[in-house]
Amino acid sequence: MADCRHSVVYQIWPRSFQDSNGDGIGDINGIRSRLPYLKSLGIDLLWISPLYQSPNDDYGYDISDYYSINPEFGTIDDLKELIREAKLLGIGILMDLVANHTSTRHAWFRQALADPSSPCRGFYFFRHGSAGGPPNNWLSFFGESAWQKAEGDMYYLTTFAATQADLNWANPAVRKEIYKIMTYYMDLGIAGFRMDVINTIDKISGLPSKDPDKEGLQFPGDYIIDRPNVETYLKEMNQEVLTPRHAVSVGEGVLVTPESVRAYTRTDSRELDMMFQFELMTLGYGVLGRYDCRKLYHFTDRDFKAAVRKWQTAMQRDGSYLGNCLSNHDNIRQLDHFGSTKRWRAKSAKALALFNFCLYGTPFIYQGEEIAMVDPHLTRKDWKDYECFHSSEAMTTILHIPPWIAEPVSSRMTRDNARTPVQWDGSANAGFTKAENPWMIVNPDYPEWNAARQEEDPGSVLNFYRACIRLRRTQEALCTGSWTEVLPEHPHVLAFLRRNEKETLLCMINLSAHRVSVKLPDCFAAEDLLSNDAPRDLKPRMVFSAWEAHLFRKIPSAL
Ligand code: NOJ
Ligand code: CA
Repeated sequence: MADCRHSVVYQIWPRSFQDSNGDGIGDINGIRSRLPYLKSLGIDLLWISPLYQSPNDDYGYDISDYYSINPEFGTIDDLKELIREAKLLGIGILMDLVANHTSTRHAWFRQALADPSSPCRGFYFFRHGSAGGPPNNWLSFFGESAWQKAEGDMYYLTTFAATQADLNWANPAVRKEIYKIMTYYMDLGIAGFRMDVINTIDKISGLPSKDPDKEGLQFPGDYIIDRPNVETYLKEMNQEVLTPRHAVSVGEGVLVTPESVRAYTRTDSRELDMMFQFELMTLGYGVLGRYDCRKLYHFTDRDFKAAVRKWQTAMQRDGSYLGNCLSNHDNIRQLDHFGSTKRWRAKSAKALALFNFCLYGTPFIYQGEEIAMVDPHLTRKDWKDYECFHSSEAMTTILHIPPWIAEPVSSRMTRDNARTPVQWDGSANAGFTKAENPWMIVNPDYPEWNAARQEEDPGSVLNFYRACIRLRRTQEALCTGSWTEVLPEHPHVLAFLRRNEKETLLCMINLSAHRVSVKLPDCFAAEDLLSNDAPRDLKPRMVFSAWEAHLFRKIPSAL
């Protein structure tokens, strides 16, 4: 287990970070060229979404060779250089471990198809169909049957995209191969792993249909999520790879609960250092998932506060721990979701930053968030994401939603929103690429919203992020102190204390775009450590302006 409680993590989605060779696609050498920027931001760990060889059906989350790098991104030598240079700057690299599934182009899968008697056949789930259809009624996360045809009436399981075949972790040979891959990258000098959908690696034995009495495909839910052997396998992985190498581990899970996160991360479990929870990031999503956005504009600040309360409170036991993020490569940008993209764009970006940096848990920044990037206005011709095409089609064919609704909804919610190139400066294509046509459109707002411009402005969002990171360095209570809510009943202001034996910090954020009054039950003499507004004294009664946010520190003499 590693100490990541004092770390700040930055996530790179490499295809859109920085292109170095003019082909319009971000790459490893592009990342190398931006290391000084990342250093100046103050981060400690860099999680890079998958760089491995991949047919790109799910942009790298479908791996066809774990030991080679996608040539679009560079070579293994480029990666070694990146690891070396980053280490010199005190930055550790986290590779993305995608081990719930491989691409169907992986040699193991090809071998399994070519020779049913090969040991590779047992790496996956091959099953005969039933009653002229697939072996069971499971629905995949991407909205189709979780079974694809191999040959004759033989199918293979694929709980994500059709070309992402699920690995059978119950087979010790699979686990051995995964640990070998992990060891290989640890030996290259990386700091650890972000683990893709790690809580789905154990499937119910026998793979029975879910709710067989119901008609149509059914989401398998607890038949594949948080099953008991996930913990068994993670403990084994720790023994084999993580613990002896002091590797950092961040788990990504599907529909995790406070109980499951606690089980995986509690200090005595020796499974994962931290996990994400996506309840905030999916606030306003409906029962049908990301594209069910009927409530997207209707959740309230109270709902936001309730999600924060639920998770922060649950983590106050047994040393359980979160990685906190407000956006990533799978969701719309945080300002479009929770903040403001217009009048209060910069101010809400700072408020949300302060919020994330003051929470209990390790803060994660998703590329572009630190310069207040927002969603572009996409139309169908801009889509790149497999999930978007499929979900849009499912909306029309299964739910009978007409295309004139399905298309704009898909454009609004697609993961493509978060995947536009980083806006570095005001030159052509935002300085992302020298190519005329980048692989994905650049948000046309880049002349105004870019990193170079914000470098020069001491009051910019970028410089506010730097200040937030500095705070984590100087205020120990932010890293390891307890979390307690203040003003739970306030409809708009989120306020909480971070405390240890020496310090008491109070974070207050107006989550709304209007003025609100605040009445503090327990006021104390305090210093305003950081704010997105004019510094102020902490008073029993205050009026906060739109998105006003502060971090106060109780003055020690008053302790
Ligand atoms: C979660 C990843 O973040 C997402 O991008 C991917 O599509 C799925 N896992 C499947 O690997
Ligand atoms: Ca390139």
